Amino acid sequence: MILISKLDQLLTASPYQTYVYSYPHKTAYRPLNPAVKLTDVWHQENREALFLYFHIPFCEMRCGFCNLFTMVQKDEDFVSSYLSTLKRQSTQVKQALGESKFARFALGGGTPTRLSLKGLETVLDIAENTIGAGLQAIPGSVEVSPETATEAKLSLLRDRGIDRISIGVQSFIDTEVLAIQRRQQANQVKETLTRIKEKGFPALNVDLIYGLPGQTIDTWLYSLRETLAFQPEEIYLYPLYVRPLTGMDCSDREWDDIRLSCYRSARSLLLAEGYQQISMRMFQKPSISDISAPVYCCQADGMVGLGCGARSYTSKLHYASEYAVGAKGIGSILQAYINSPTEAFDYIDYGFNLDLEDRQRRYILISLLSNEGIDLEKYQDRFNAGLFTDYPELKKLLELDLATKTDSTIKLTEFGIERSDTIGYWFFSDTVNRLMDGYELS
Ligand SMILES: C[S@@+](CC[C@H](N)C(=O)[O-])C[C@H]1O[C@@H](n2cnc3c(N)ncnc32)[C@H](O)[C@@H]1O
Ligand code: SF4
Repeated sequence: MILISKLDQLLTASPYQTYVYSYPHKTAYRPLNPAVKLTDVWHQENREALFLYFHIPFCEMRCGFCNLFTMVQKDEDFVSSYLSTLKRQSTQVKQALGESKFARFALGGGTPTRLSLKGLETVLDIAENTIGAGLQAIPGSVEVSPETATEAKLSLLRDRGIDRISIGVQSFIDTEVLAIQRRQQANQVKETLTRIKEKGFPALNVDLIYGLPGQTIDTWLYSLRETLAFQPEEIYLYPLYVRPLTGMDCSDREWDDIRLSCYRSARSLLLAEGYQQISMRMFQKPSISDISAPVYCCQADGMVGLGCGARSYTSKLHYASEYAVGAKGIGSILQAYINSPTEAFDYIDYGFNLDLEDRQRRYILISLLSNEGIDLEKYQDRFNAGLFTDYPELKKLLELDLATKTDSTIKLTEFGIERSDTIGYWFFSDTVNRLMDGYELS
């Protein structure tokens, strides 16, 4: 990773430094010595509106670009053991949480619909009966892939109160998906999208990737138009990132320009079609806000992550199981999870303690990288200090036209939004940068 040391590099560095979907990144987590008791951590937290996340680390294929914590696992006994362990872990976590309420639910991975129908039902049962999340009453989202989103699984999800289906499509051109080692036919994708629409989920999200090998602006816009034919409430446009150990090597010098052109043309098309831009990657139909209640505030509220590879966020400690990308590393972390004695789930032994600076940086990054922007008064109320007093370097974003300021808010400009992945990375603390740089991937 190139370290950006000078502010001016905000303009000259590649716009594609790192995707900041959370701060700090998992590669900044380290073993906690001594391990911390779950009850001690959660009892200091507000547990009125938690986010419940379950991670299913299995897929029917390993796509060439993907560095998520997931593996191809054909042994159904292993998958069953994973689900029994998930239940054991959930029982312990619920006990540690004590009185708590959940405002949102998400089931991700990996590919949760890679589970059998019964397996999927088991996970929903754990969420409702073991954890106590009322899935019919709160917004719930599930990630699916085109091959695994069968009629029966979609019916189950709809019946159990899931509101949003998020599907990874990436491209409607068969040769483009083949180049990223993804078995998928455009016709099958369309059948799956039709099935999802017929089930009447309030929200459909489609993931697309630009900058794929062999992709042109024309083929990219073709995929986007094919997507629009299904009128999804939400579309995520991901620039392709190629990361270590993911099985792809793509180092074309013109790649940045191609990705930028793809982004700009897609953004124009989506805005013309009435979508709102929420962040560099996320576009939504305005009507979607109707289904988002009750409100979950991601800058403030806690996240309870269950399953191996899931992250949990409290106000001062972020934690997870250890991380890997290669099949061997993931396999052994999963095996260790399954072998864990039940009492081990009462403790947290891997994570990141956020000091005041990293809590402030997290708040600033999450706000700035979305269309919400940084509310100056809220920052002052929360941290008892002025934003520019704490971080005078943020003025540079205004000078470079990457952000604008009104009396109350700082927001990225159109130019700033397309450089989100550079601005985010530029604002990481020295501690986080050092830990990420020192991380050895397995
Ligand atoms: C958990 S996956 C989606 C669900 C499902 N497993 C699937 O692929 O169909 C989340 C999304 O992140 C995006 N993504 C993952 N790795 C990426 C990478 N290296 N570059 C760009 N986008 C990536 C893909 O669009 C993917 O659909
Ligand atoms: S992109 Fe989706 S299906 Fe492909 S390996 Fe990653 S999580 Fe699995």
